[in-house]
Amino acid sequence: MSIIPVSIPFYDRKAELSALEEAVSSNRAELIILYGRRRIGKTALSRKLLEQHPGAYVYVGSSSVREFLTNASRAVGRTFTSLDGFLEYVFLEFGRENKILVLDEYQRISKKLSPRIQYHWDASARKSWVKLILLGSTIEIIERDISYTGPLYGRATRVIRLNGFDYETVREIFGEKREEEIIKIYSILGGTPHYLMLYERTKTIEENIRNMFLSPGAPLYEEVERLLSTELRDSSRYLEILEAISMGKTTLKEISDYTSLERSQLKKYLLILEKLTLIEREASIIGKGIPRYKFRDNFFNFYMRFIHPNVPFIELRQEEYVLNNIIKELQQYVGRIFEKICLSVLSKKFHGYKVGAYWDREGNEVDAVAVSEGKAIFFECKMGKIDRSDAIKFKGKTSVLAEKLNLKNFKRYFVVPEKDMDAIDDIEILELKQLLS
Ligand SMILES: Nc1ncnc2c1ncn2[C@@H]1O[C@H](COP(=O)(O)OP(=O)(O)OP(=O)(O)O)[C@@H](O)[C@H]1O
Ligand SMILES: [Mg+2]
Repeated sequence: MSIIPVSIPFYDRKAELSALEEAVSSNRAELIILYGRRRIGKTALSRKLLEQHPGAYVYVGSSSVREFLTNASRAVGRTFTSLDGFLEYVFLEFGRENKILVLDEYQRISKKLSPRIQYHWDASARKSWVKLILLGSTIEIIERDISYTGPLYGRATRVIRLNGFDYETVREIFGEKREEEIIKIYSILGGTPHYLMLYERTKTIEENIRNMFLSPGAPLYEEVERLLSTELRDSSRYLEILEAISMGKTTLKEISDYTSLERSQLKKYLLILEKLTLIEREASIIGKGIPRYKFRDNFFNFYMRFIHPNVPFIELRQEEYVLNNIIKELQQYVGRIFEKICLSVLSKKFHGYKVGAYWDREGNEVDAVAVSEGKAIFFECKMGKIDRSDAIKFKGKTSVLAEKLNLKNFKRYFVVPEKDMDAIDDIEILELKQLLS
C-alpha cells in the first residue's frame, strides 16, 4: 500500500475531488465506486479526501473474510464478527454522522461483500447517510459489480473512473524544465502519477530511461507484462496486439494480419483493451479515413515500442546497446506524441469547433483540424526546426484538402514547443504555451 506523505505535493484531480466533495456532503447515503488502472492514484485521492472529512480507511489485503473483519474492526474501532454485523453498523451507526468509509482494493473481497452490500443498501439506504467509497482496479469492478447483472448495478450513486494526468498537469509537475524536455518526459511516462514520481529531476532523460527501465531490477522493467497479467488471463495475446499498434499497425486489418487473429476475435480483445483504457479507436475528423487504434497513455506506447522488444537484451545486461537504439528513434517517436498533445490542447482551446486529426485513403494527413460551420483551421505540429519546404508542403496538402472538402474559409498554423520566429512563408507559428492559457 502506498500513502502520500504530507510533504509531497498533490497534483490536479480537481474534477474528481469536487465530485467526491459533492457526494460526501449530500444528505443521503452514497455508494461511490472509484476505479482505474494500477498506480493511477486511487489510494492517493481517497487519502486526500480523508484529510478533509471524517471517516475510516480499510485496506483489503486478500479475499479472506476473517482478515477483512480484523482490518475493518481496527479501522472503525469496534469488533465485528460477521460481514452483516459490519455492514449493519456501517449503514446505521457509522453512517449516521456522515462519515466516509473507504474500502481500498475492494475487488479482492467483492465477490463476498457485494451481495451483502446490495442487501443492506436496499434495506437501509433510505435511513442512512453513509458515504461508502469502493476503490478497485478496472476489469473486475466493471465486469462483476457494475455490469447490468452485477449486484451494485443501479445502486452506486456515483461511478468515477480515474484517468492519468493530462499534459497540462505534467507541465505543472515539471514546471522548471523547458517545454521540449517536458514533452519528452510525457512521451515516455504518460500521465500515470506513480511513473512520473519516479522520474529524477536532476538526471538527464537518458539516465532516467536507464534507471527506470533498463535492468532486471529497474522499477518499470516488465511493468506492462506485470500489469496485464494481473488484470487479464490471456495476457500474451494482448501483448501481441499492443506490440502491433506500437509498430504502427493501427487499423483492424493491419493488427489482424500482424497477430494472425481473426477479426471477430480480435475485436473482443480490442474491446477489453479499450475498457482497460490502454487503447482507443480514433476516426478521421471528416471523410472516410479508416479508423485506427492508438494508445491512450504514452507510457504503454513507449514501453511496447522500446522496452518490450528489448527484454531479452536487458536480461543479458546489454543496456548500452538498448539505450543507443532507443536514443536513435526517440526524437521521431516524441514528434508523434507532440501531435497528440497538440490535438488534446487544441480540443480544449477551440470550444464550439470540432477538433481532430485528418487522414484519408489516399495517404493525405493533417495533424489537427478545427472545423465549424464551413470554417476550418489547419495545424501542423512540429518538434524540430521548420523551414520553407515544410511550409510549402503544408500549404500544398491543405489547399488540396480544402478544395476536396469544399472549405472556402480556412487558416493555417504551425505549432511548436518553443518558437524562435513568428511566421514562415506567411504561415503564423504558435507556441504550445500560447494555446495552453
Ligand atoms: N494526485 C497526485 N499527486 C501527486 N502524486 C500522486 C497523485 N496521485 C498519485 N500519486 C503518486 O502516485 C503513486 C501511486 O498512486 P496510488 O498508490 O494512489 O495509486 P493506486 O491507483 O492506488 O494504485 P494501485 O492500484 O497499485 O493501488 C502514489 O504513491 C503517489 O506517490
Ligand atoms: Mg491503491
